[in-house]
Amino acid sequence: MALTTEQPLTIDKPRSSGRPAARRSNFELYSWLFMRLSGLLLVVLVLGHLLIMNILDDGVHRINFGFVAGRWASPFWQLWDLAMLWLAEIHGTNGLRTVINDYARKDATRFWLKMLLYTSMVLILAVGTFVIFTFDPNIGD
Ligand code: HEM
Repeated sequence: MALTTEQPLTIDKPRSSGRPAARRSNFELYSWLFMRLSGLLLVVLVLGHLLIMNILDDGVHRINFGFVAGRWASPFWQLWDLAMLWLAEIHGTNGLRTVINDYARKDATRFWLKMLLYTSMVLILAVGTFVIFTFDPNIGD
């Protein structure tokens, strides 16, 4: 529509009452901060994991059931693996949430992709946490 000189050009004031209240939350700020902090922690956790499992001693050749059982007998390594699982899963999910928000064109596509993502996150966190805490080194007995 062409602008006429009789009609003044008006624009809503920022944060006018017409804005949905949800926009005022700081969720995206904390999510941005979380990506940086979890990224920093993941550098330590993932590089340590890589070094221990694949490089030191005989690397991957020494990994078997006994090796895993020995490692998870220690609460330190249980906690290490638990932190790596939770941080990588939530970091990856939050990253993909951003990708979906950026690229999904239809509201329904965006909604269902995110539902699929969140469902997979909950399942993987539940199964992974369950395994770390209920692992039985005497499973064959
Ligand atoms: C060495 C460990 C890691 C570091 C330092 C790291 C760092 C980061 C940072 C800073 C961002 C935000 C980028 C931005 O906002 O522009 C990011 C995004 C992302 N990360 Fe990581 N990350 C690490 C590991 C992982 C892992 C293990 C996964 C998968 C499970 C992952 C998946 C993602 C995804 C999907 C994004 C979103 C990408 C995008 O916005 O285009 N990252 N990462």
